[in-house]
Amino acid sequence: MPFDVTGSPSGTTSPSSVRTAGPRCAKKRPFNIMSTDENPSAAPQSLPVQEPAKVLLLEGIHKSALKRFTDEGFQVETRSGGLGEDDLIKALAGVHLLGIRSKTRVTARVLENAPSLRAVGCFCIGTNQVDLVAANHSGVPVFNAPFSNTRSVAELMIAEIILLARQIGDRSREVHCGMWKKTATHCHEVRGKTLGVVGYGHIGQQLGVIAEALGMRVLYYDIMAKLPMGNNRALPTLNGLLEQADFVSLHVPETPETRNLINADAIAHMKKGACLLNASRGTVVDIHALAEALKSEHVGGAAIDVYPEEPEANGAAFETELQNLPNVILTPHIGGSTEEAQEAIGHEVSHSLAHFETSGATTGAVNFPRVDLPPRRGTHRLLNVHRNVPGVLRDVNQIVSDLDANINSQVLATDNNIGYLIIDMEKNVSMEVSRRIAALKTNIRTRVLY
Ligand SMILES: NC(=O)c1ccc[n+]([C@@H]2O[C@H](COP(=O)([O-])OP(=O)(O)OC[C@H]3O[C@@H](n4cnc5c(N)ncnc54)[C@H](O)[C@@H]3O)[C@@H](O)[C@H]2O)c1
Repeated sequence: MPFDVTGSPSGTTSPSSVRTAGPRCAKKRPFNIMSTDENPSAAPQSLPVQEPAKVLLLEGIHKSALKRFTDEGFQVETRSGGLGEDDLIKALAGVHLLGIRSKTRVTARVLENAPSLRAVGCFCIGTNQVDLVAANHSGVPVFNAPFSNTRSVAELMIAEIILLARQIGDRSREVHCGMWKKTATHCHEVRGKTLGVVGYGHIGQQLGVIAEALGMRVLYYDIMAKLPMGNNRALPTLNGLLEQADFVSLHVPETPETRNLINADAIAHMKKGACLLNASRGTVVDIHALAEALKSEHVGGAAIDVYPEEPEANGAAFETELQNLPNVILTPHIGGSTEEAQEAIGHEVSHSLAHFETSGATTGAVNFPRVDLPPRRGTHRLLNVHRNVPGVLRDVNQIVSDLDANINSQVLATDNNIGYLIIDMEKNVSMEVSRRIAALKTNIRTRVLY
């Protein structure tokens, strides 16, 4: 795919805006970084005039991202809403980095018609709004922010453990309805109680640490060996955890193995009166089995944030068997929805995009071979994405050798479809090397970075 470096900025109409911080901030870089896309038909012998990267941010992405990009010296256009396919193709003319949230779909057609596009940042957790395979084949890495809302989820779990222990959902509803029902029966402190964490990843670990600070005993079960935080303790089986925990909190991903992980059998292993919390994925709990266990009072309460089927838009009607059952807190998938998480997502994804733009690093990309080579003073860096077939590295090295240039560092990572190569060369022949590599049949994208 040829790269277009002459595309003009897209027509900017309200509510979009374009911001640039002028020339790139050289003091932030190890050296002055050139940013140009290589057009195989041209044959420049020296590095071309520096052009700031153009960034398009859609869907009201947090201003922390805008700040990051303008600090980098990039030219940024922001829009509050999403864009349909045709409008997105028009808006991407001349754009190098695209930032979206969940509403904008980046299809194969969009990618085919966006020759300047170098990377996509999903300022959210999910990436299914992007055709990841097409992006991979086009040499476009896609980044997201899977862990920026970890703390928000962990804090909600802590709050809900206490709310369930004190039956606050029911008491609050009663008072709203004008009913005074003061009682201590079945209401408890959480100090000294046992929390069972299922899935001891980012969220599970944070939760375990905070719960311990409240005086809880924390047990966890994970299919992987995980280092315990503080005095948290691993258990070898899920049933072993269910049999001991007063609160069971689920933090596993959605996989075939976790589908209905908490079914009638698993619930039967829970202590009588224990509470279940699920803010992981809706498919992990058999909702009917949970509803029956709540009605029979085998389960003493539940806090559910995620459901097997969830409405796509706010305001849509929603029904679940769990509605109107005692001591059940139901929330609309808000575990990670805080302003702090949005800000953190803005920081994380803009960092990934800027790092890729200035160094070629693909760390954190969900659809791309991962390479991160620290820049070295006095070298010239070239990025190449190629079809993953035998002999590409031999051809590339032959080109460099023919030009009598010395390779300072070279890193190649591959997946089934593509290879991603970063080369640092000592001699300033990078434009000619780039021109020759771009002419190889295996070439997908080649770019001289600096
Ligand atoms: N409610 C929300 O708004 C919200 C926000 C963020 C994340 N989440 C969800 O929370 C879940 C956990 O997120 P995370 O960031 O901690 O993920 P993570 O990948 O860091 O951790 C998941 C852990 O689960 C373990 N695991 C996988 N399969 C397992 C199994 N069958 N049994 C036991 N453990 C198993 C993994 O080994 C890993 O340690 C994910 O499903 C994510 O989608 C929900």
